[in-house]
Amino acid sequence: MTKKSGLAGSLTDYGDPDFALYLRRSFASSMGYSRAILERPVIGIADTTSDLNSCHRHFPELIQAVKRGVLAAGGLPLAFPTISLGEVFLSPTSLMFRNLMAMDCEEMIRAQPMDAVVLLGGCDKTVPAQLMGALSANRPAIQLVAGPMMTGRHRGERLGACTDCRRYWARLRSGEIAAEEIDTVGERLATTAGTCAVMGTASTMAAIAEALGMMLPGTAAIPAVHADRLRAAEASGAAAVEMARAGRKPDEIITERAIENALRVLLAVGGSTNAILHLTAIAGRAGIDLDLQRLNVLSDSTPVLVDLKPTGEHYMEDLFAAGGIGAVLRELRPLLHLDCLTVTGETLEERLAGCAGGTSAAADSYVDRRIIRPLSNPLQRSGGLVALFGSLAPRGAIMKRSAADPRLFEHEGRAVVFDSPEDLHRRIDATDLDVRADDILVLKNAGPTSPSGMPEAGYLPIPAKLAREGVRDMLRISDARMSGTAFGSVVLHVTPDAASGGPLAAAQTGDRIRISVEQRRLDLLLSPEELQRRPRERFAPPSRGYARLQHERVLQADQGCDLDFLRRFPERTRQTNDGKG
Ligand code: FES
Repeated sequence: MTKKSGLAGSLTDYGDPDFALYLRRSFASSMGYSRAILERPVIGIADTTSDLNSCHRHFPELIQAVKRGVLAAGGLPLAFPTISLGEVFLSPTSLMFRNLMAMDCEEMIRAQPMDAVVLLGGCDKTVPAQLMGALSANRPAIQLVAGPMMTGRHRGERLGACTDCRRYWARLRSGEIAAEEIDTVGERLATTAGTCAVMGTASTMAAIAEALGMMLPGTAAIPAVHADRLRAAEASGAAAVEMARAGRKPDEIITERAIENALRVLLAVGGSTNAILHLTAIAGRAGIDLDLQRLNVLSDSTPVLVDLKPTGEHYMEDLFAAGGIGAVLRELRPLLHLDCLTVTGETLEERLAGCAGGTSAAADSYVDRRIIRPLSNPLQRSGGLVALFGSLAPRGAIMKRSAADPRLFEHEGRAVVFDSPEDLHRRIDATDLDVRADDILVLKNAGPTSPSGMPEAGYLPIPAKLAREGVRDMLRISDARMSGTAFGSVVLHVTPDAASGGPLAAAQTGDRIRISVEQRRLDLLLSPEELQRRPRERFAPPSRGYARLQHERVLQADQGCDLDFLRRFPERTRQTNDGKG
């Protein structure tokens, strides 16, 4: 039986396929399409417009540009809605809904007639969700992102969400600025459509999508409001038609070698810790196990090249003007697998040799060395992220060393433990909190199996009484995540998490903890017997709905917090949720 394409794809089976197609065409005709256009390849456009996602507020215009490209290339563009995840509008945390969005995306791609799909995402969890879903559905797919927002201005200073949100909030907490000023700043932090203006999770995932080969060359960093963004949308629509004709599928593009390329880029841009989770989950959908020990090997041999907040000084609009991710890939060329296929049908090597399929942004070889450093003279000699292992994190924890204070890389200190995000909220600013600057703040029960579902609570605030004394950084450890726009000496994703009974659950105030970034160690200095003896709190599972499904089937951070049955090889998942590793 020949595979059906166009509107004849994914037909309902009434036992009479000709009637099913007749019925579908009749209803499609009701939208005013001509018979001839209904014969074209169908290009779905996964639309994540939402009034509760400010980063995507320009998508209606972007979709028109995608449609233009599809029509000009001989396809029929049909947009369809999926769940949208606006990072700051979701509770308890957007991560919990990434898997739900991935399922929505996968099922709608598979259930509806389309020969290829343009994935329109941007805000943090939307791009990984779309890549996960598209990979599982495995129809030709191309990613298009919102693009970063432009910076704002405040008293002569550039501001970008959301690194500067945190910086100004810390200034308020320490009493440096007044409430009136923080309100003014609040209206100047996020001033245009688009994703956060720094190398946060959204920008990191856009860079990763381009490094994976799932996006047109040179399109990751184009600002949301730049005309090039519309040209990228038009070109993505046209590319989707070509992909549909060629039948080029995501599993040919997202391979083990492409995942390594993406990891190199993640490290070189000083990218978000969240991206490790997402890339692990994407890899799992392709049947690839991303090993944190491998991350360390790559991290040791991948320098940080990009000088962007939160690690450095500049903003995404500067990266775009400096040469974008294409320039970063060219610098990393000796470290990359150049035989990887991209959405255009070219290999990465061919892409870097020429500049096919993209926009004018991809064709310019200019590089601003203030923003993108050469491999021979990097910003930092080794990669931005490092995995730590030890008695506190038998299956690993992540530290963004590029954003941390090197003086805390080798440190032993007294633990000050908070039992949950609620406990942290209650006590962190208490005047009687027994805490010193050389203590280690520990937050537990904020991991993937906790009631809070792994929120971005890992950037624990400096206790108010220490902030007022001028303390700006402390070592902070948790099983939570951290916003990609944050900075500080923060250890995250401690695995197994406390709520599943991992060693973190046993930590108590007064315990000693030792960290050694050099040795990749994170240890709770208790005897094995004492560690075993300590009580570990358990939580009742959610009673209903998606929260229950997520709780029952979510994997630990070292497997990307995907749902076990959604990975390509569910039988290969590690039994991580018993806390015993
Ligand atoms: Fe959407 Fe930061 S809130 S990318």
